[in-house]
Amino acid sequence: MSIVPPITTFTLAGRPVSRVGYGAMQLAGPGVFGPPKDRAACVAILREGVASGVNHLDTSDFYGPHVTNQIIREALHPYPAHLVIVTKVGASRGHDGSWKPALEPEDIERGVHDNLRNLGVDALDVVNMRMFGNIHSPAEGSIEKQVAALAELKHRGLVRHIGLSNVTSAQVAEAQRMTEIVCVQNHYNLVHRTDDALVEELAAQGIGYVPFFPLGGFTPIQSSVLSEVAQRMAATPMQVALAWLLHRAPNILLIPGTSSLRHLRENMRAAQWDLPDAVRAELDTIGRAREAG
Ligand SMILES: NC(=O)c1ccc[n+]([C@@H]2O[C@H](COP(=O)([O-])OP(=O)(O)OC[C@H]3O[C@@H](n4cnc5c(N)ncnc54)[C@H](OP(=O)(O)O)[C@@H]3O)[C@@H](O)[C@H]2O)c1
Repeated sequence: MSIVPPITTFTLAGRPVSRVGYGAMQLAGPGVFGPPKDRAACVAILREGVASGVNHLDTSDFYGPHVTNQIIREALHPYPAHLVIVTKVGASRGHDGSWKPALEPEDIERGVHDNLRNLGVDALDVVNMRMFGNIHSPAEGSIEKQVAALAELKHRGLVRHIGLSNVTSAQVAEAQRMTEIVCVQNHYNLVHRTDDALVEELAAQGIGYVPFFPLGGFTPIQSSVLSEVAQRMAATPMQVALAWLLHRAPNILLIPGTSSLRHLRENMRAAQWDLPDAVRAELDTIGRAREAG
């Protein structure tokens, strides 16, 4: 298996970022609620990630809530100039850890202020307007009210760039008629390929597509085809799943989440593997089998 040059970059919010970033959601407690068991380990993961080249960090103030942002601040503040922190608004948490939509303009403003306070910044690099839809998949419908609220906060200087999350192609187009959209973050991976066409649409426009659950989320992808390919490549299945995403389209930016230093190191190496066409075709059968099933 040939080795390609390490991590390539993509322009996100006007700045070059490594295509292998990091998603901080796994740093909160179980169920993304409350504090982690080992806060010092979380701080170490963030510091090592950034020291080894991560400069695109995904977070939200509703992870914990507040916990993930507070750990990011403890680990990395004052933030290096090359670091792009992408956060999101659109949900809140109940006392029992439940996830609730928070999509009114006042919720969105509160979400932005929560992020500013807990990250310790005057302005947020990128805020994704996270629509609720069907929890992990989008539902059609106008998002004008939410995008207008975020655009107003951008106008006031609290937000530098706007992205979208859990949205359809029509919703992206609606938002683009109102303001500049710099990235889209939706559920996508080797198995879950509903957004194949949207990935291409955004690639043609030079807009970043950031898959959430790139490894399958809380239950990482399991597939005999993936395991066999990984074994042949002397890689782990998760490294192959990430390498497949990097090869899928140049605008795909990875934010794998992990609470383990070992996994972070594994994931950081995902850009090292070249995937010849024949191997990609083999891996493509995994998503097709799911569609057929
Ligand atoms: N916009 C949205 O609605 C939305 C929704 C979900 C997530 N997100 C963002 O997307 C990021 C990524 O999603 P995610 O963290 O939920 O899911 P993910 O990256 O697909 O997978 C995370 C899971 O994979 C495990 N894992 C990570 N690296 C591994 C490796 N090398 N080998 C084996 N297992 C590994 C993690 O466990 P360990 O901790 O044990 O490594 C964790 O259970 C999140 O962190 C968050 O920032 C956004």
